[in-house]
Amino acid sequence: MIPTSKIVSVLAMSLLLVPLLALGLSAAQRGIYENPVEPKMTPALNVGKMNYEAYCASCHGKTGGGTDKGPTFISRIYHPGHHGDGAFFIAPKRGVRAHHWPFGDMPPVEGVNETQIQSILEYVRAVQQANGVF
Ligand code: HEC
Repeated sequence: MIPTSKIVSVLAMSLLLVPLLALGLSAAQRGIYENPVEPKMTPALNVGKMNYEAYCASCHGKTGGGTDKGPTFISRIYHPGHHGDGAFFIAPKRGVRAHHWPFGDMPPVEGVNETQIQSILEYVRAVQQANGVF
């Protein structure tokens, strides 16, 4: 006969394990970069940040950290050697079919022009650099 106290402690242990297992995917695997640092800001980067926040941050997160709707840009996946600057012009224009992550497709972004995208790109590259992507 197993003592009740033993059963209770085993049960308590397994209940503790459930949330731990649910947290098993690392932030990076979920497309999140925690506590990104801002690059050293310049007037041009401030414009880029403003445009980024207006058009991209709702999914790609504050300072490019990612959200539950879209991935962080602070990842080797978005290193300039993997996703060149052109990807940043094409993605908002045509949208992106989900292929790296389980977030679903990125819809085309309405109302953003190429000058704004250029500034967004400069901001995103500065954020990547400030956080050690390259
Ligand atoms: C409604 C949410 C949403 C918004 C708004 C959004 N994105 Fe995305 N974006 C995504 C998701 C989701 C992916 C990842 C798709 C995948 O690879 O699975 C993505 C991927 C990308 C990629 C990678 C493209 C590729 O070729 O793999 C780029 C570049 C990008 N987004 C740029 C932008 C820019 C720039 C903006 C703002 C102008 C923006 N996104 C706004 C959701 C969004």
